[in-house]
Formats: sequence, C-alpha cells, structure tokens
Amino acid sequence: MTADDLKTQFRQQSQAALSLNTAYIGVVSGLFSTLHSLGTAPSTALAEAAKLDPGYVLRWCDAAYAFGYLDVDGEAFRLTPMGEAMRPEAPDTLMPMAVQSVLSAHMAERAAGLMRTGERPGEQVLAERETVLPWFGPMLEANFAPMFERTICPAVPAFADVDARGGLAVDLGCGNGWYLRALARRCGKLRGLGIDGFQENITQAQALAAQDGLGERLRFIHGDIHALALDEPADLIAMNRALHHVWEKDTATLFAWLRANLKPGGYVVIWEPAWPAERTALREPSRKALAFQNLSEHVQGNHFLRPDEIQAAFAQAGMPSQVHLFAQGNEAVVVAQR
Ligand SMILES: C[S@@+](CC[C@H](N)C(=O)[O-])C[C@H]1O[C@@H](n2cnc3c(N)ncnc32)[C@H](O)[C@@H]1O
Repeated sequence: MTADDLKTQFRQQSQAALSLNTAYIGVVSGLFSTLHSLGTAPSTALAEAAKLDPGYVLRWCDAAYAFGYLDVDGEAFRLTPMGEAMRPEAPDTLMPMAVQSVLSAHMAERAAGLMRTGERPGEQVLAERETVLPWFGPMLEANFAPMFERTICPAVPAFADVDARGGLAVDLGCGNGWYLRALARRCGKLRGLGIDGFQENITQAQALAAQDGLGERLRFIHGDIHALALDEPADLIAMNRALHHVWEKDTATLFAWLRANLKPGGYVVIWEPAWPAERTALREPSRKALAFQNLSEHVQGNHFLRPDEIQAAFAQAGMPSQVHLFAQGNEAVVVAQR
C-alpha cells in the first residue's frame, strides 16, 4: 500500500469518527429527539424547542446534514432514517456508538498524557466530561440489555432457578440498574438491591425503577462494593462488567465475601468481556475494540480478565463454576452455585 493509499484509507476511517462525534452532540443535547417530535423545523425553531443556542444548533444542523442524519427542504430540517435510528428512544438505537466514540477519544487523551508517569487515576476519569457521565448507563443498557434478555437469560439455567426461588438479587456495580429491572420483570418473586460508586447512576436507577413500577421491589444505594454489608443472604449476586473494576484490589477477599453472602443453593453470576488467551485473537474484527478498551481500563485501574482467571478465583473460594460464552466468545458469563 502506498502512502497515498494509506492517507485515503485513514481519511475514510476518520469520517466515521467525525460522523459519530456529530451524532454525539445531537444525542446528548436532545436534538435528535426534539426534531423527531417536531417533524420538520428550521434550525431556529429546533434551537428554541430544545432550549439551545441558535448559533450552535445551526452549525450542528449543517454537520448533521453533511453526515446524512438530516435532510433539508428549503430551511426546514427533518431526520433521515439514520437520524431516527440515532435517537436514544429508538428501538435498537445507534446511540451507544456515538457515546462510545467520544468516550474513547477522552480516554485516548488521558492515556496519552499518563504514559510517562504510569499514574492510574481510577473510575473518576469517567466523570471528567460532564456530558458523558449521564450517558454511561444508557449506553451500557442499550448495548447489553437486549443480549441479556434475548440470549443470555434463556441460555443460562441459573436464571430459571432464581425465578423459581425468588428472594433477593444483589447487583454489585449496578450502573443505571437495567439488569435488576430486567430480572424483576422476568422473576415476579424477586427483590433487588443494586450498589454503585457513582451517584449519577443511582439517581438514574431509582428513577427508572419507579418509572417501570418496580420502585417497591428494587432498592439502589450509592456506595463501595468493598464496604457492602447485606441485611440478609442473597439468592443471586450478579456482577456485570464490574468484576474487572475491583479485581486488582483483593480478589480472594471479594470471592470469599460472595460465597459468604449467598444462601445455600444461591448463585453468583459474573458477566465479563472475555479477554482472549492468545494475543493473535485481538486482530479479529470483533476483538479490536476490546484491546483499545483494555488500554482505557488501565487508566481506570482495571484490566480485562480471561474466563479461566475468574474460574480460578471461584475455585479458590471453594466454588466450582461453569463458563457460558456468547457473542463469538467475546462475552463470558461465569456461574457458581453455593
Ligand atoms: C462498566 S460499568 C457496568 C455497569 C452495569 N453493571 C452494567 O452492566 O451496565 C461498571 C460499574 O461498576 C461500578 N463500580 C466500579 N467499582 C466500584 C466499587 N468499588 N463500588 C461500587 N461500584 C463500583 C462503576 O461505577 C460502574 O457503574
């Protein structure tokens, strides 16, 4: 490949990033949703309805038009099918890709600045961009709730058993609480307790549970997983994309806690991205993003885990476990029963 070929290739790739960055602005400032409810509108009316600055909105409309999110008739803009699909409320919304794009740029900048010192500032880097943090929960929900409900829940027998048992489900690092909401809808006898280190997530989780009529059954608290004391042993303790956040602290104590806080017959279900055993697997298209994400996890004090490492931690705590793989082996659900 010549240098010119490479430039052409990178220019094309950078257009995809610019397109998602443009979409991000429309997502977080509600422009896609507002234009959807207006139908068609000039940028001034869109700005007024969205309560935004008309100068910024005009420039955004031009960019969103350029990248095919908007069409225009005279001065009146309307959403294209791609713009409709970017609305956070759209079924199978494309919103997570836009949020991920801007979050990735932020994490790349942080990693670049920290390469020399080796400093790892921790979870707080996610809160450094005020428009990103509120979208963290919705991004994860849109990315993973459909996979949980359609694929994982039916395929992992522990969930049918939990449905039959009822009792208490605890979600450690619960984000916006989508997992407990999904479980509570499915398992009528189940109550839930979610804990998360970001107050923003807890506020969203409480509001969304109340909105779904689940406020009586689901409780969400702001706090540290390491300091959690349960009032009663749990029937299910879940960690979704949360174990790698606490793994580097004291894994043996955590796994002993998980076992000690389960009722006999209760389950621990851990869902994590599956770091591959071989580096060569990172070249596979479905794993490239995982490799970048692991660099940004490093900034947060975390790293991704191989499923066998999780199994070894369970074994050390005296719990045999099974691994269920999904999404071409990229998602691992590790289940242990007391
Ligand atoms: C990748 S997110 C996953 C969120 C959620 N489980 C989901 O699947 O959408 C990891 C979550 O773990 C939380 N977390 C990480 N370390 C924590 C700790 N020590 N105590 C409480 N929450 C923590 C973070 O605040 C974050 O919301």
